[in-house]
Amino acid sequence: MPDTLPAIESSLSARNLAAGYVSGIEILHGVSVDAVPGQIRCVLGPNGTGKSTLLKVLFGFLKPSTGEIRSGPTVLTGVAPHAMGRHGVAYLPQRPSIFPFLSVEVNLRLGAWSFRRRHADVKRKIERAYAQFPILGERRNQTAGTLSGGQQRQLEFARSLFPEPKVFLIDEPTASIEPRITAQIYELIRGLARDGKAILLVDQNIKGALGIADYVYVMRTGSLYTEGPRTEFGDDVELLVSQWLYTHHAAKTA
Ligand SMILES: Nc1ncnc2c1ncn2[C@@H]1O[C@H](COP(=O)(O)OP(=O)(O)O)[C@@H](O)[C@H]1O
Ligand SMILES: [Mg+2]
Repeated sequence: MPDTLPAIESSLSARNLAAGYVSGIEILHGVSVDAVPGQIRCVLGPNGTGKSTLLKVLFGFLKPSTGEIRSGPTVLTGVAPHAMGRHGVAYLPQRPSIFPFLSVEVNLRLGAWSFRRRHADVKRKIERAYAQFPILGERRNQTAGTLSGGQQRQLEFARSLFPEPKVFLIDEPTASIEPRITAQIYELIRGLARDGKAILLVDQNIKGALGIADYVYVMRTGSLYTEGPRTEFGDDVELLVSQWLYTHHAAKTA
């Protein structure tokens, strides 16, 4: 193999992203991340540091002022969110994205909207979702808003699988979820990685995220503070992150 090939195959690469919401106020100051098939890569960092902003830039909600996003040879910088599915990228936002007053089944049908003319495909995808998430099958006629937090997350995951994405950008999947469901959600994410999907996971639940991470990015006020394979952090990672949180907090309140 020629040594010019990258050591890892990346499904989504971002280099040197700078972005903000308001002109003149930069939130991300040159962030580079990769989503790699079969790996769970976690982005950690305190509130307000730009983790959600990073995922929004990667999915095209915000256009970076500098930097580049690629999937293999395809440049995705500036591609709109609605077109990202075609490039194999799925995004699960921090806030619930189900339609609470519609049934589970209708939510799934809306998720299959781009295949709506392929009736057999839609049916197959929905049946597959019920096989994978039996509780959704049992509650297919129930309004989605009456599902538990964890079940709503399952519905979002089920729906996100329809375009058969290669990359999942997942923002705080266990926020506002009952603790006993948290492990199920992490197991679901592990399953995606085992299927060869590339996961970029933003999480405030440091312990939970580190439990499933292959690789860790630590963010600090819009930049990467440190990064590396989970194993390189050893058992000190919690200590490292808590020290860093403390330093960050102390610097902010000084
Ligand atoms: N829609 C928005 N408009 C303006 N500023 C925003 C918006 N969303 C987030 N911000 C600001 O961007 C910064 C990073 O926020 P965010 O990416 O949500 O952080 P995190 O996900 O790490 O908690 C914060 O200072 C936040 O106030
Ligand atoms: Mg966030």
